[in-house]
Amino acid sequence: MANVTFSSPVMEKDMTLYAVAGDNGTLLALAKQHNIPIPFQCQDGECGSCLVKITYLDGGKAPMAVTLTEKEKLTLSVNGKMTKEWLEQAEVNDVPPPYRLACQYIVRDEDILVEFSGEPGVEIDLRR
Ligand code: FES
Repeated sequence: MANVTFSSPVMEKDMTLYAVAGDNGTLLALAKQHNIPIPFQCQDGECGSCLVKITYLDGGKAPMAVTLTEKEKLTLSVNGKMTKEWLEQAEVNDVPPPYRLACQYIVRDEDILVEFSGEPGVEIDLRR
């Protein structure tokens, strides 16, 4: 079981869901199932509107959901949400970048905090 906590200025309060391990659904699918208002359009990794910030909450454990699809890498890069350094860290050292696309992110058996601004493609400030 993974605890997935959603947080956004457009939500009255944070919401934690228990995602079933092995379900292999996307973060966006989980959010939609529970009426979490992550903006989306294409649902195919191309528009960048489902931008979220992910924080891994499992302490010292290595994050599992590190693999980015090629579409996710490209869309994040084109939209200025993926630096060269973050991409290299993800590809070489399995260190996940802070911003992801909810429609491309597969929920794994790990606890995460998902923050989103509520505006399509607009990031939550990293300094929060
Ligand atoms: S909804 Fe378009 S990239 Fe996720």
